Amino acid sequence: MRKLNLFLGSVLVLFMFGISSCGNKAKEMVTTENFGSFDGKEVSLFTLTNAKGDVVKLTNYGAAIVEVNVPDRNGDKANITFGYETLDGYLAGDAYFGKVVGQYANRIAKGKFTLDEVEYTLALNNFPNSLHGGPAGWHSRVWTAEVLKGTDFPAVKFTYNKPDMEEGYPGNVVAEVVYNWTDDNELIMDYKVTTDRRSVINITNHAYFNLHGSGNGDILDHEVLIRASAFTPVDPTLIPTGELRPVEGTPFDFRTPHLIGERIGEEYDQLILGRGYDHNFVLDNVEEVDAEVYDPSTGRVLQVITDQPGVQLYTGNFLDGTQTGRGGKVYQYRSGLCLETQHFPDSPNQASFPSVILTPEEPFLSSTTYKFGVR
Ligand code: BGC
Repeated sequence: MRKLNLFLGSVLVLFMFGISSCGNKAKEMVTTENFGSFDGKEVSLFTLTNAKGDVVKLTNYGAAIVEVNVPDRNGDKANITFGYETLDGYLAGDAYFGKVVGQYANRIAKGKFTLDEVEYTLALNNFPNSLHGGPAGWHSRVWTAEVLKGTDFPAVKFTYNKPDMEEGYPGNVVAEVVYNWTDDNELIMDYKVTTDRRSVINITNHAYFNLHGSGNGDILDHEVLIRASAFTPVDPTLIPTGELRPVEGTPFDFRTPHLIGERIGEEYDQLILGRGYDHNFVLDNVEEVDAEVYDPSTGRVLQVITDQPGVQLYTGNFLDGTQTGRGGKVYQYRSGLCLETQHFPDSPNQASFPSVILTPEEPFLSSTTYKFGVR
């Protein structure tokens, strides 16, 4: 009997130890610190450390990526994404650094769309259009945060409950993004969006990258590959004209790698209208990696893998040195580039583009990965 008690006791101890060590595992991989408060809600800074010791920082203000610290080919680590030192920086900043953008990422012409014969009107924050979900879109909200437990990698889930008609979009919408930071330096972003009423959805992450280290020079010497055979040309207000233009023979052909600076200054109509690259590419979606950025000087590589039909290449054409980020770094003209995976801009008004209708019957599920490495 005593033996049996001893045996059961040991099983219980082992079981409890197993539970607590498994619970602690995820906790040690993610630490949480106070980052201030906004709108009566607590804002935190989350530090995710993977088995390599490489670090990603996130905040639940705008569900944003704050830092990505990864090595160059000599093993020297640097933060390669844009972020602010403090919550006040985020509150004052206007360029969506690392944020999750919704309910409709990118532009909607004249801030109007019709769904099921009802016309909806959005705020015009990028005259004459509505940009990135409006002035008080999801990038400017405090999301609920949960550090996931029992996961193999550090992972944090952010949730935003968007009330019906907020920023003009129909539906009580629940948006979730889970950031997973794997031991292979993949930042996997899994999105799930549900609604109780028919609506539209386009969600992206708006991280800016500079593979030299953020704030260190421009991105004109970054080599870019985008597996896209066409892009969507824009009008002077950056709304797609509806044309899908083949990239063949244009400065938009990145199907083989090209330096950003190689053709950005060409007298090509779309480069003039965009003040550089600020365009949606129609992804071929045939190979695993949809886009790649390589910095020959440091050897750093960023790969983008997505299930979305498009990606916006934005070369920081509106950056002007007025934003100061982490470590006092000043973000100058074209000092960062974005690869915003997405549905095509203005899709609610363009019947020929893939549908962006969100229904109560079918959640919107999507995944995009930023994978960091060296060559
Ligand atoms: C847009 C740019 C805009 C930028 C704002 C990009 O997604 O395409 O035109 O200036 O976001 O940071």
